[in-house]
Amino acid sequence: MTDPTRRVLLLPGDGVGPEVIRQAQRILDLVAEHMPLRLEEAPIGGASIDETGHPITPEVMGACLGADAVLLGAVGGPQWDHVPNERRPEAALLALRKEMGLFANIRPVRLRPALSEQSPLKPEVVRRGVDMIILRELAGGLYYGPQRLDEDRAVDTLVYERREIQRAVKRAFEYALRRKGKLTSVDKANVLSSSRLWRRVVTKMAPGYSGVELEHLYVDNCAMQMVLHPEAFDVMVTENTFGDILSDLGAALVGSIGMMPSASVGESGPGLYEPVHGSAPDIAGTGMANPVGMILSAALMIEDLGGGDLARQLQAAVDEVLDAGCATVDTARPGVVPLSTDEMGRRIAGAFADRIG
Ligand code: IPM
Ligand code: MN
Repeated sequence: MTDPTRRVLLLPGDGVGPEVIRQAQRILDLVAEHMPLRLEEAPIGGASIDETGHPITPEVMGACLGADAVLLGAVGGPQWDHVPNERRPEAALLALRKEMGLFANIRPVRLRPALSEQSPLKPEVVRRGVDMIILRELAGGLYYGPQRLDEDRAVDTLVYERREIQRAVKRAFEYALRRKGKLTSVDKANVLSSSRLWRRVVTKMAPGYSGVELEHLYVDNCAMQMVLHPEAFDVMVTENTFGDILSDLGAALVGSIGMMPSASVGESGPGLYEPVHGSAPDIAGTGMANPVGMILSAALMIEDLGGGDLARQLQAAVDEVLDAGCATVDTARPGVVPLSTDEMGRRIAGAFADRIG
């Protein structure tokens, strides 16, 4: 019989990464009482550079590929800013995404009622609701095209193959079918060839998903519509760089980037789960980091590992704690004393433990 134990590799990384991953670990220790989990840990990013000279070692890469899921804190920081691109902490993340074959990065953008006052949107816009999924293509585009940096000239290359577009867009259509049935494909087809191919591929796939209403938006217009009419979005699919930028916009809409989780998945094999906020070196070590994005990333992971009920209870525990008025510095209303990263993690773990018994 195959061993049902799920192996989760924790990669704390840099900045606030280790602080928030401890809070996810608290949750995973509780999950382990209900499904067989084994947690392991390895260095990545700046932490790995300091230890080994490389942002990720072949051993750690191998451990990621051999795990059932990888949970990442964050990578990067000013102390590694001067090193060449291929040796920066971020290079580890890009290599990991590539090697693990992760082409679909799912970033749920949902404004929780408890945070509605924290959103920069006007109350009348908030009232219409913000609940969308941004599916960012993660394995192509500018991030992986040939680059060159000379003294007076620099080149980045935006390349997409038809099959790269297809496999990401297929996932997006499937999400739309399971949600409100609307898909917005975002491109810059009025200027870019890669976007023209993108739009052609999406349009050709649409008849296979008759239950989905498809719209195309130019990325600049999309940014504006997300602010003016966030309620009009259900599932959005877009290329790597556009998705990077628009998901930060989405993060602002939901009150704080600290709230945003993400899941990166491929055809099969382990997924990579990480909060969207990054290493936030300016607040590292202060206890100010919001662990919710990390904990919700763990929820996405637990769901993909087959723990759908546990994931739902974790989501509910997060809502319960936020509804009770608990907040970290980034989400606290004026006059509310913010909780530390650790205290927020404890509260959520407590609510989760009560729910799962
Ligand atoms: C993200 C981050 C990364 C990206 C960086 C750290 C390389 O901004 O996950 O959104 O640009 O993909
Ligand atoms: Mn980003």
